[in-house]
Amino acid sequence: MSKHKRIAISTGGGDCQGLNAVIRAVVKTARYRYDWSVIGSLDGLAGLIDTTKVRKLDISEVRGLLPKGGTILGTTNKGNPLHFPVEVSGKTKFIDLSDKIVKNFKELLLDVLIMVGGDGTQAIAYELYKKGIPVIGISKTIDNDLMDTDMTFGFSTAVQVAVDAIDRLHTTAESHHRVMIVEVMGRYAGWIALHAGLGGGADIVLIPEIPFDMDVIIEKILQRRNLGGRFSIIVVAEGAYPKGGERIIQKKANSEYDHELLGGVGHWLSREIGKRIDVETRVTVLGYIQRGGTPVAFDRILATRFGTYACELIEKGDYGKLVVLRGEEIKSVELEKAMGKLKMVDPNGQFVRTCESINMCLGRENKLLF
Ligand code: F6P
Repeated sequence: MSKHKRIAISTGGGDCQGLNAVIRAVVKTARYRYDWSVIGSLDGLAGLIDTTKVRKLDISEVRGLLPKGGTILGTTNKGNPLHFPVEVSGKTKFIDLSDKIVKNFKELLLDVLIMVGGDGTQAIAYELYKKGIPVIGISKTIDNDLMDTDMTFGFSTAVQVAVDAIDRLHTTAESHHRVMIVEVMGRYAGWIALHAGLGGGADIVLIPEIPFDMDVIIEKILQRRNLGGRFSIIVVAEGAYPKGGERIIQKKANSEYDHELLGGVGHWLSREIGKRIDVETRVTVLGYIQRGGTPVAFDRILATRFGTYACELIEKGDYGKLVVLRGEEIKSVELEKAMGKLKMVDPNGQFVRTCESINMCLGRENKLLF
């Protein structure tokens, strides 16, 4: 029997499906397997900055949570506590609140902090670990772009939402003989676009890792038309951009602790196609629909496995780690080593080869076709 522990858990960064499942797994494992108690820090680390913003998480609090999207704790992707914005005489100043967090962590009699989040959250987790807080990170993001894990939860649901949308768009594309463009999220990586395109049978998929050539796209649409395919489905990642061109940014980052908002490439593409050939195009931007609602089974299961594994690390006192998936196994890597590395699609890798082997156009000349 291990000594009683008090665990805090926070969810940071953009929400995604499976966050509630991971909270539920931590609370259930802590209570049933170890008899530890858990509190939730609201809105990221707000609960460790202002100790009134915490919530006791008993078993009753996590009942029915598995299929629920979002996070019952709330989250934020603003207000990095190491660079926290405060208003001073009408001006925004940034202060480092990490000492306050360490002090409140002790005052709340906590033993460990589990931080669920993407790359930004894990960078903060590592800083707090260096300040002496026993931290465990759990990786999540719909973008699936964290280097050290084969998969993050949230990704499978986002892909499924996009595939469902592509299936539905097919019928209008076919009936109206249109080019339907679906813009998906994914930030600087093309994982959602590529998986959704393959799962949904898209004709053209454009990803950030392969800057696209407009001539190739037009040729593909015309080729399909000549072969009797009077419609085309294009999936474009929000971070995709034309060869020699630039990524479209909706909002620039305010500081190195902020992130830029991408989006708009779908409409840009529609205009460009319209300038070159006589075809009707329509654009659907999936946006936050990809992050919302109930998680698919894979994400619920992965999140549950991550949550339980985090408790096993706590039992061993193995802190400063990020929980990840490697093949079939849940493992952990040093937070320090997991920092700042994005997992991008390999433009010549197996996944891309599969797409091009079945004649999917990736916006470049397809050298695999005979
Ligand atoms: O990282 C997840 C993600 O949904 C990206 O795919 C997208 O670019 C970004 O977050 C949107 O961020 P925000 O929630 O700040 O609008």
